[in-house]
Amino acid sequence: MTVLFVNACLRDDESRTLELCREYLEGIDDVQEVNLGQLRLEPFYAESVAYRAQLEKAGVFDDPIFDLSKQFAEADEIVIGAPYWDLSFPAALKVYIEHVSVCDVTFHYTDDARCEGTCRARHLTYITTCGGSVAGANLGYDYLCGIARMFGIPETRFAAAENLDVVGTDVEAQLNAARQTLAQLKATR
Ligand SMILES: Cc1cc2nc3c(=O)[nH]c(=O)nc-3n(C[C@H](O)[C@H](O)[C@H](O)COP(=O)(O)O)c2cc1C
Repeated sequence: MTVLFVNACLRDDESRTLELCREYLEGIDDVQEVNLGQLRLEPFYAESVAYRAQLEKAGVFDDPIFDLSKQFAEADEIVIGAPYWDLSFPAALKVYIEHVSVCDVTFHYTDDARCEGTCRARHLTYITTCGGSVAGANLGYDYLCGIARMFGIPETRFAAAENLDVVGTDVEAQLNAARQTLAQLKATR
């Protein structure tokens, strides 16, 4: 049972989001971590997207350009940790999704031209923390719900600690509320 942890908590040890993720993953065997702060992936541009497209067209998937996509497709569970930045999440996570979203790896087209997901994961759990409130503008999670649908992942789950940068907030109480949600999610893995 492989859990893929996509770590987009770019502040590393300073990150409250990473603290929640580590607690959630504690005791779970076989966690594969993709650390986006270390990977420093490049976005796709004309040359790289053309290079990848001709490999896809030829059905040649042993190039390292497909490694992240294959890893994502084969995981049994996905956990994504990312802080709430600019109403969504750090750009590094969007770039990662560009690398993962590959026709005939994470999704394919059926004979009647329908897009169908091909990922194994039974759920995607998204963990975030926010300076203010995420209500009404949970755009990063909304986007990832769309991606999960496209990739054939049937369930998405969410936990957030909010208002962490609001003066006077009891930060530990907010983190504890998120911990309670995460404990419930962990109990229903
Ligand atoms: C570049 C950047 C953008 C941010 N954008 C928002 C935002 O749009 N809304 C918000 O409520 N907080 C925003 N914040 C505050 C973070 O969401 C908050 O500090 C969060 O807890 C950081 O998570 P971390 O401790 O895991 O790094 C932003 C912080 C940074 C550094």
